[in-house]
Amino acid sequence: MSDFDLEFRNVTKTFGDVRAVDDATFQVRRGEFLSLLGPSGCGKTTSLRMIAGFERPTSGEIFLDGRPVGATPPYRRNVNTVFQHYALFPHKTVLDNVAFGLLMKRRPPAQIAERVDRMLALVELPGVGRRFPHQLSGGQQQRVALARALINEPTVLLLDEPLGALDLKVRRRMQQELKRIHREVGVTFVYVTHDQEEALTMSDRIAVMNHGRIEQLDTPSGIYERPATRFVAGFIGLTNLLRGVVEARHDRDVVVRLASGARLRAETADGAVPGAEVDVAIRPEKIQMTAVRPAAADNCLEGHVTNFVYQGAATEYQVTLADSPEVRVIVQNIGETWRAAVVPVGTRVYLCWSRGAGLILSDAAEAPQRDPEDDEAAAERVAWR
Ligand SMILES: Nc1ncnc2c1ncn2[C@@H]1O[C@H](COP(=O)(O)OP(=O)(O)OP(=O)(O)O)[C@@H](O)[C@H]1O
Ligand SMILES: [Mg+2]
Repeated sequence: MSDFDLEFRNVTKTFGDVRAVDDATFQVRRGEFLSLLGPSGCGKTTSLRMIAGFERPTSGEIFLDGRPVGATPPYRRNVNTVFQHYALFPHKTVLDNVAFGLLMKRRPPAQIAERVDRMLALVELPGVGRRFPHQLSGGQQQRVALARALINEPTVLLLDEPLGALDLKVRRRMQQELKRIHREVGVTFVYVTHDQEEALTMSDRIAVMNHGRIEQLDTPSGIYERPATRFVAGFIGLTNLLRGVVEARHDRDVVVRLASGARLRAETADGAVPGAEVDVAIRPEKIQMTAVRPAAADNCLEGHVTNFVYQGAATEYQVTLADSPEVRVIVQNIGETWRAAVVPVGTRVYLCWSRGAGLILSDAAEAPQRDPEDDEAAAERVAWR
């Protein structure tokens, strides 16, 4: 038996000129909660539809439970899907909706009744079995959809923005519920969302997608602390990018010179040879803002406060530096009085951070993005020669 419930090997799906999924290779461990995260149109739903068997890869192969499923029709795959819009049967009761999969498999009535009860208890909806879907709230309908999918004991449960239609409060509660249910049933979840916070809080690992490509697949903290590309750094949380040129490098330590002549020290895992143009990425909460220049600091830039947004527990400042665009800084409001909590606009400040907080994003680390227009342009250039 395979250690992986699901595997993509070089899977590509094109629709005409559009590369909806571009050479995706990854593995999902048994019982894992994997999120596919990315902006609209990046290929999340297409990936799910290929796993479910509603679309076939243009090239590459998908494995479920260690076996290639290219020739397996959707109804023979041990996979169920929960969609954004509750696809419940409107004229069937909750009981009949949840029982549907087992009725199709012609299980004995006593077994079906027992399993339906168990599922409704799991999703914390006992006692609503006789109601119809329109007599339930949105969140309750999604619980029924979940029960209806899980009753089939799928190897992999696919969830395509299942909370997308719910209001924020219900959504937050359902996130917790989904995590609990995932822990209880131990089924592998592949969860699609374009909400980075949802992906960070719920997932074991996240695959960040952009233009059909997986730019990074890592744990939530790996994605946040060590983004591999500019896109990932910008898509997950706030990040400051300071452009400069690599001046020197010793092992992982890099010195970058900004246009102003200021030098920054940062760490890099790859690329970044002297002379290369790079971005130094720093998260706003890793920056210390002080009124006087500290005696010894690896990285320290002078600027002045141009704006701030008081957020209660923290205040987000915009600081304009001598040469660079605005830098955002998040300061935790740990002062004892409200006076300590704000630094007024116009104040001269120093922004400092440790060497390890600055991450080099070089062009080499960037996943190449194939744009069909580039390909066409390239083909034209070749034709002209
Ligand atoms: N059946 C189809 N025919 C043609 N193009 C398609 C088809 N299905 C998807 N696409 C295209 O493939 C790309 C990826 O679509 P997909 O639905 O997978 O995106 P998504 O990441 O799920 O986006 P969203 O967050 O908006 O749901 C898009 O450019 C889309 O227009
Ligand atoms: Mg989609």
